Amino acid sequence: MRCIYCLTFPLLYLATVSNGQSVDRVSPLPPSVDAFYQPPPSFETASPGTILRSRRVPPTTRVNTTALADTYQLLLRSRDSQGAPTAIVTTVFIPPNAASDKLLEIQFAYDSASVDCSPSYTLFQNDTSLPEAITVSAGLQQGWNVAVTDYEGFTASFSNGLRAGYSMLDATRACLSSKNITGIDDNAKVVLAGTSGGALASEWALELQASYAPELKFAGALLTALTPNASSVFGTIDGTADAGLIASGVLGLAKEYLNISDWLSENLVQGDALRLSQAAHSCIVDTISVFNNTDFVPFFDVPSFLTATVPNSVIQNTGIMGLHGVPAAPIYNYKGTADEVSVVEDTDALVEKFCGEGADIEYYRALNASHGSAGAHGFLAGWSWINDRMNGVPVLGGCQTYNVTIPT
Ligand SMILES: *[C@@H]1O[C@H](CO)[C@@H](O)[C@H](O)[C@H]1NC(C)=O
Ligand SMILES: *[C@@H]1O[C@H](CO)[C@@H](O)[C@H](O)[C@H]1NC(C)=O
Ligand SMILES: *[C@@H]1O[C@H](CO)[C@@H](O)[C@H](O)[C@H]1NC(C)=O
Ligand SMILES: *[C@@H]1O[C@H](CO)[C@@H](O)[C@H](O)[C@H]1NC(C)=O
Ligand SMILES: *[C@@H]1O[C@H](CO)[C@@H](O)[C@H](O)[C@H]1NC(C)=O
Ligand SMILES: *[C@@H]1O[C@H](CO)[C@@H](O)[C@H](O)[C@H]1NC(C)=O
Ligand SMILES: *[C@@H]1O[C@H](CO)[C@@H](O)[C@H](O)[C@H]1NC(C)=O
Ligand SMILES: *[C@@H]1O[C@H](CO)[C@@H](O)[C@H](O)[C@H]1NC(C)=O
Repeated sequence: MRCIYCLTFPLLYLATVSNGQSVDRVSPLPPSVDAFYQPPPSFETASPGTILRSRRVPPTTRVNTTALADTYQLLLRSRDSQGAPTAIVTTVFIPPNAASDKLLEIQFAYDSASVDCSPSYTLFQNDTSLPEAITVSAGLQQGWNVAVTDYEGFTASFSNGLRAGYSMLDATRACLSSKNITGIDDNAKVVLAGTSGGALASEWALELQASYAPELKFAGALLTALTPNASSVFGTIDGTADAGLIASGVLGLAKEYLNISDWLSENLVQGDALRLSQAAHSCIVDTISVFNNTDFVPFFDVPSFLTATVPNSVIQNTGIMGLHGVPAAPIYNYKGTADEVSVVEDTDALVEKFCGEGADIEYYRALNASHGSAGAHGFLAGWSWINDRMNGVPVLGGCQTYNVTIPT
């Protein structure tokens, strides 16, 4: 088990999905052709976070349906990484006797450049690559409302930190104004949680919160297997089992950065262009499999695609954490020192930077743990911390670092 899509969440296996019912699809249509995802006319004038449209959808058997009373999807107004108005979808799960003052937002690591791999759709399919569904169930069993946002947007702009952060902040605004649909209070406590790509979305929301959504206040954030530096990640995983993330990452950035898109047209070696483009149509498990051990350096007619001016400028703009603000919410950060996707030194450095800027971080370094192992185990380790944030227990404050071992 070395890859992120192999995440298993073994000990959080509080809820399984094996109740024998056939899957009730939310819609016969994938997002690329489902009209619900298309914003209504003049949506641009609505303020960010405005609910543009909502629908009640059938329960998904991917979560513990005994712990689920209702499921809604909200189409809401957001903005892309360039500031253009856009609309995104968030799915809100409501347990029976929900605590109307509690909302857990779980960001899935869907890591794809295809909109049809968005969790608002795949969660209602027989998709086997959705380990976070177990944490949705765990949250529902606590009586919390749980939201899952398609934070890459309709463009499926994977690895785009700004896009993910704006999406999360606007989705939070929408959830907190959805009382007459979901029953969630406008002053509910909100906790963010995610691993890897889902931790990325959560972290960018924390960074951008003060400047973009100063009215919001998160009670806390659980981040596991964080990837602070996209350039470093791409360099680390090139030629390895996780190389496919480079394909979906580069294409994801090209979705919203025209200069990357132009740069790809000019600098992709003929033949490899077609190969790369496959990643625009596949979900993470297939992308990883197709590009297993692929070296991407020969795909481009430059010595290094990471240091070439255009890709480097875009990664500087939207791929490096720590440059857009200091998280105000307390953070529980869990990271493997043997993370093979994002080296632990990048997370050490980010934590040190934020701690010097006044952030509140409990930092757990899981010795010798891999990306997937720490990513999954961090949810178990941090679950009671989330519970405390939901219940208003004060944090210690400041920063603490612990070296821990994952029990085998
Ligand atoms: C599903 O949720 C119900 C209600 O919270 C709980 O009693 C039950 O144990 C859960 N099922 C599983 C398989 O965890
Ligand atoms: C999901 O799998 C079950 C069992 O194999 C099957 O009955 C059902 O039709 C499938 N649903 C979809 C949407 O593919
Ligand atoms: C909820 O309230 C808003 C604003 O008051 C209104 O526009 C909307 O139609 C209501 N939605 C439902 C489902 O009642
Ligand atoms: C990000 O990683 C790249 C490649 O390892 C490195 O050159 C750069 O200095 C890093 N940036 C930051 C802010 O750490
Ligand atoms: C990747 O390739 C290795 C051998 O080079 C193989 O063992 C592994 O199963 C492959 N993984 C996938 C996801 O295809
Ligand atoms: C590419 O576009 C982005 C966003 O507009 C910008 O930040 C970056 O500087 C551009 N790169 C170059 C080399 O102009
Ligand atoms: C971590 O791995 C190294 C090298 O394989 C080993 O020497 C060390 O004992 C391991 N530490 C723990 C805590 O497992
Ligand atoms: C954790 O382990 C690292 C070596 O991997 C060491 O440098 C550091 O001092 C340790 N930190 C704590 C808090 O024990």
